[in-house]
Amino acid sequence: MIHFRALAAAAALLCLTSPISTASAENGEVNVYTYRETKLIQPLFDAFTKDTGIKVNVVSASSGLEQRIKAEGANSPADVLLTVDIGRIDEAVQVGVTQPIKSEVIDKIVPAQYRDPDGHWAGISMRARVIYASKDRVKQDAITYEELADPKWKGKICIRSGQHIYNNGLFAAYAARYGEAKTEEWLRGVKANLAQKPSGGDRETARDVAAGKCDIGIGNTYYWALMMNNDPDKKAWAEATRVILPTFEGGGTHVNLSGVLLAKHAPNKANAVKLIEWLAGERAQQMYADTNYEYPVRAGVAINPTIAGYGKLNADPLPISKISANRKAASTLVDKVGFDN
Ligand SMILES: [Fe+2]
Repeated sequence: MIHFRALAAAAALLCLTSPISTASAENGEVNVYTYRETKLIQPLFDAFTKDTGIKVNVVSASSGLEQRIKAEGANSPADVLLTVDIGRIDEAVQVGVTQPIKSEVIDKIVPAQYRDPDGHWAGISMRARVIYASKDRVKQDAITYEELADPKWKGKICIRSGQHIYNNGLFAAYAARYGEAKTEEWLRGVKANLAQKPSGGDRETARDVAAGKCDIGIGNTYYWALMMNNDPDKKAWAEATRVILPTFEGGGTHVNLSGVLLAKHAPNKANAVKLIEWLAGERAQQMYADTNYEYPVRAGVAINPTIAGYGKLNADPLPISKISANRKAASTLVDKVGFDN
């Protein structure tokens, strides 16, 4: 649910956020930099403080947090970075502002496919990249990602930019599975099926399916739930569509992560690891996933009823780190096939 905005807007937001001074960073506190909206996650931090007595200081922004941590250098008060999508998680690691979490609790609770093999990040919850299908015009109940390139969908698919991180993750998953040549062929096929030039966000994709511009759209699981339950203006877009969980042939549904990273110079490292471990706990998992309409990463935690209503998620078992390694190739291919043109 985090979207790119102009750096100027982010800078303005950062100025409004009460600054964390290194002087305030002492035992009994933990400093969280987050791309998740404060109003959504504050109840979670309040519960953490109640459980542990550790105060949580929050810096919230819509972009630029890794750069801020980098600029703050060894004096950065940042302990924990909360972010969404493997694209942003990967960027934080690449820019060099993280360190391994090293937690047996995390290693035990978070499945290996949703953790960095080097320990720099761990998934807290998951979202799937799925199909918003027209209730009126789409009869089938199952679909594969491969099938999106089938000419039977010619002129019937809507999707946002192929360079957006959500699509980059999906296309990278395709490339990790099939290699670049097959991915290029598939992307050409999908592009040939588009009803219109890639545009808007996932909600607008649902809007366009509802308006009859296309029969199927590609979007994330939580947007549909947000439109259906939390946004009266957009409820009709959800009502005109239904979510189909697509799978790779012989595989599962592509999922992406909402994740957590430990800052390289975390001044409250022990508390940071406590918070990260606490986020993997049963109650936190329930709160976090429910608040954001995501899938809990911890097994056995109840899934929000709207999300559960999509059907049973059979997540693709490919490790997120392997998908991440194909992000650049996927981006290059999107340009090569002129996906967004
Ligand atoms: Fe989003």
